[in-house]
Amino acid sequence: MKEPIVRMEHISKSFPGVKALQDVSFELKRGSIHGLVGENGAGKSTLMKILSGAYASYQGDVFFHGNKVQFKNEHDALEAGISIVPQELNYVPQLTIEDNILLGRKVGVTKLGWLEEKKRHDMTKKLIEDLGLAFNPKTKMSELNVAQCQMVEIIKAISRNSQVVIMDEPTSALTDVETKQLMNRLRDLKEKGVAIVYISHKLDEVFSICDQITVMRDSKWIGSVAIEDAEENEVIEMMVGRKVNELYPEKASCGKEELLRVEHLSREGVFQDVSFCLKRGEILGISGMMGAGRSEIVRAIFGLDPHSEGAVYLEGMEIKIKSPVDAIKAGIAMVPENRAEDGFVGGMSVKHNIILPSGDIYAKKFFLENSKINQDVEEIRKKLSIKVPNTEEHVVNLSGGNQQKVVLAKWLIRDVKVLILDEPTRGIDIGAKQEIYRLMNEYAVAGMGIVFISSEMQEVIGVSHRILVVDGGSVIGEFAHGDVSQNAIMELIVKKGRKKG
Ligand SMILES: Nc1ncnc2c1ncn2[C@@H]1O[C@H](COP(=O)(O)OP(=O)(O)OP(=O)(O)O)[C@@H](O)[C@H]1O
Ligand SMILES: [Mg+2]
Repeated sequence: MKEPIVRMEHISKSFPGVKALQDVSFELKRGSIHGLVGENGAGKSTLMKILSGAYASYQGDVFFHGNKVQFKNEHDALEAGISIVPQELNYVPQLTIEDNILLGRKVGVTKLGWLEEKKRHDMTKKLIEDLGLAFNPKTKMSELNVAQCQMVEIIKAISRNSQVVIMDEPTSALTDVETKQLMNRLRDLKEKGVAIVYISHKLDEVFSICDQITVMRDSKWIGSVAIEDAEENEVIEMMVGRKVNELYPEKASCGKEELLRVEHLSREGVFQDVSFCLKRGEILGISGMMGAGRSEIVRAIFGLDPHSEGAVYLEGMEIKIKSPVDAIKAGIAMVPENRAEDGFVGGMSVKHNIILPSGDIYAKKFFLENSKINQDVEEIRKKLSIKVPNTEEHVVNLSGGNQQKVVLAKWLIRDVKVLILDEPTRGIDIGAKQEIYRLMNEYAVAGMGIVFISSEMQEVIGVSHRILVVDGGSVIGEFAHGDVSQNAIMELIVKKGRKKG
């Protein structure tokens, strides 16, 4: 049998208080796509960070083309032919798309160090078009949304002509359309002999594109199966270590009483004339494509962005929201799309992140209630099953999915009337997703109104009482639960969306 391009043998790695990897072995064949799956904190990213040079110290051996290697850093691995799209995006916001893609490379630079502008421009333009996108390479990264940044990171990694490309949750911010384009591009790369490691919590993607699947759980290797022999249910069971039942909870019917009303909300050039109402106990899904304006609308409602016209009413009273502080005071909370930027403070502990917006609740009773803080934090940690050695750990050290749960915990610890969730299950494993759907349901039954944005249409359909479809910054339609399919939403967008008109 041919030597695999990568062989990792008996890899172990610890962090203070955590065994992230225990005796894990992993083989990657040439010209293949290998899915790496497992629950949050299973050790997937850590294993791939070792392969891509981010961690130089570990136990065990790594072989590349049959030769033992020990990369000192990511640059070393990249030079050898291994590139990675990291889970947490890592770009320079002040630079253009073009400069980010070509960062640190000698492409389009003469021997004397001059930049060959045209060559750089043409090259990046071609790379962008190969993925079916229409970005202007001169756009600054800071002007892009999360999904667009993710696409740029992907372009950057696959433009290196690496023999091994690692993708750690590459589609977490992408909608179905961009995901499809990425899948096609990955198939091309595979044809060319590139070996790809594909980490994802979206099993349908893993099953549609991978040749092999490796499952990890609790820092250990659980098994590797060829796709022909893999059954989705079995893979899920290997991931969670138990049988899993229905993903979406049974929905309780929602009340009739209006809780939140948005009237003719506009922000010039971003979204226009958005009106909708949210009832008590209702989960209202918002569906749409990348760049449709979904996040922009809810950001304005929460006061993160301004709006130029329109009004917001809560329980029948108009509320003026100029900043998130106003929104929080009124009883509106939001889990933003970009958790690393707006969601948490990485260098602060889990506990302090969770109580951060609730200073008003705890501060006046601080001395009396310190134990109350610990108790509340511990309770919510358990409820959301946040995996962390203790709540004093810095959030930056948590796995991606657990970071997301901290952002949720921050709001669920206090009483809110309206909870806006923008992609709350991004990068979260199936067990935790189920848990979040269950919690959303529970909070809705208790009278909360929830606005839920997700790029996974199946998920929006699964959890919402009602779905608004947004395109080109406008609400273009509405569906009731039980009366909607993925196709129906797509059709509406094609028919009424901006692409046509
Ligand atoms: N730099 C670090 N310092 C301390 N602990 C860490 C660090 N990086 C990872 N860990 C811990 O190691 C374990 C494995 O984390 P890892 O990020 O590899 O998980 P993962 O499988 O990628 O999870 P996810 O699906 O949530 O991204 C987790 O318990 C995590 O909290
Ligand atoms: Mg990870």
